[in-house]
Amino acid sequence: MPLPIDVVSASASLLDVDTLAVPMFEGDVTVPMAGAGPVVSRRASEAITSREFTAKPGTLFVTPADDEGWRPRRIMLVGLGSRSSYTTDRSRRAATAAALAARDRKQRSLAILLSGASAAVDEVQAVAEGLTLAAYHIGSYKTDPESKPLFLKATIVMPEGTTRDAAEAVRARAGRGSMLGACSNLARALANEPGNALTPAAFADAARDIAHGCGLGIEVLEEEQLTALDMGLMLGVARGSAERPRMVVMRYEPEHARPGVLLGLVGKGVTFDAGGISLKSADGMHKMKGDMSGGAAVVAAMKAIATLKPDVRVTGIVPLVENMPGGRALKPGDVLRSAEGKTVEVLDTDAEGRLILGDALSYARTLGATHLIDVATLTGAIGVALGGSTTGLFGSPDWWTGLVQRTATRAGDRTWLMPLFEDYRDQLRSDIADMTNAGGRPAGAITAAVFLKEFTGGLPWAHLDIGSTAWAEEAQPHQPKGPTGVAVRTLAELALTADEWTADISGTAS
Ligand code: BES
Ligand code: MN
Ligand code: ZN
Repeated sequence: MPLPIDVVSASASLLDVDTLAVPMFEGDVTVPMAGAGPVVSRRASEAITSREFTAKPGTLFVTPADDEGWRPRRIMLVGLGSRSSYTTDRSRRAATAAALAARDRKQRSLAILLSGASAAVDEVQAVAEGLTLAAYHIGSYKTDPESKPLFLKATIVMPEGTTRDAAEAVRARAGRGSMLGACSNLARALANEPGNALTPAAFADAARDIAHGCGLGIEVLEEEQLTALDMGLMLGVARGSAERPRMVVMRYEPEHARPGVLLGLVGKGVTFDAGGISLKSADGMHKMKGDMSGGAAVVAAMKAIATLKPDVRVTGIVPLVENMPGGRALKPGDVLRSAEGKTVEVLDTDAEGRLILGDALSYARTLGATHLIDVATLTGAIGVALGGSTTGLFGSPDWWTGLVQRTATRAGDRTWLMPLFEDYRDQLRSDIADMTNAGGRPAGAITAAVFLKEFTGGLPWAHLDIGSTAWAEEAQPHQPKGPTGVAVRTLAELALTADEWTADISGTAS
């Protein structure tokens, strides 16, 4: 549940906390007086001069706060990088880094000052997100109680003399931030669940609990219904596993919804991807328990949306399968017929994500979606292109991908726009069917996206390939190793800022 984050307007010297975090820019030579008394200021200046503390992003400097009359017990300088390269995300990351470091040092309470470099409401939301993200803990199956992380009480400090109205606006955005952070952590927890615990049926049960807890409508389609809907791509992938497939459909329908708009969120839900008959190598295969991270992002974003209540209808769809090489499994060369009638020659059973998403995207359209966005750990190739820091963004038209990118940037999800030139479609040409499901090694992430586009019916559509961003391979100051919760806040922010893409109901937003 969201961390209750206090927002206070007070003199920093009076805060009764273990650690007071003070954001600092590169090149600043003094600590803002709100953040330290004379003794600490001198020590900080020495640390800056000696380059012990550089204020680069992710850097920290901790010193006892033994100035007369100061109640905080430690001061932690937190690097924001250079002023000229500042974005609100720097504040988000600095808050996470500060909270993770405070927890490492067994601190029980942390107060953090604002940098003032963003509008207060925006910075407070980002800091609340960052503080909440630091509460995630990967060791959910450890039995030693010592390994449970300590609870860290977090406070955001507004400048003294903040007006009551401004404080109210800020408090609302802190609440929004902690909810978005908590839902990111929910997605991380789902992604971290092993394949034996989180089967398609178990994922659907978890989604049902989440939906009931926040007033979302939910329907779980079982195999018979998927059969009745002719979802040949879904059913084809499911054949190789003893676990039966599911399709989760979550509905957010506010009373006063803007007319004519339905945002369709679709997330890949492969609860374990062994590759099927085109079996993956054993090396690192365990990581494929996280192949439902896109689905987890959709479920968690739906929860955030149901709680924060934007005035736009949203439907979340998660096709759920396990991709296994059982005796009845899909074979290379098999031809499947999708729900919308297109036929696919399966050249590689490990390219299963695009298959289940094809049927799920069609289904979103039959449910009336007017705008589509899908999130999927779709390819390893996206990591070759962009590495672990940046999500691949694909889609059309340009105004929609542009809007999704700006929204993602605000939410702290880094994306980069990838091309979808028509020629790439040639790589999916099949002799026997409408297309194949695998376009070879060159441009592997792009041909996967081109495959998905076939099922979007020309609607505004964006695809986030989180194949390399759903799981952090290495710890960073702002992010521990493990599931990242990528895309949750982007999806929720899209719904929360529907004004920006529903300029008029004829759909001519530009
Ligand atoms: N789930 C994988 C993609 C993936 C791989 C995500 C590694 C994260 C880390 C996906 O189903 C897959 O196997 N894709 C293949 C496609 C290929 C067979 C055309 C890939 O990327 O190798
Ligand atoms: Mn695969
Ligand atoms: Zn997969």
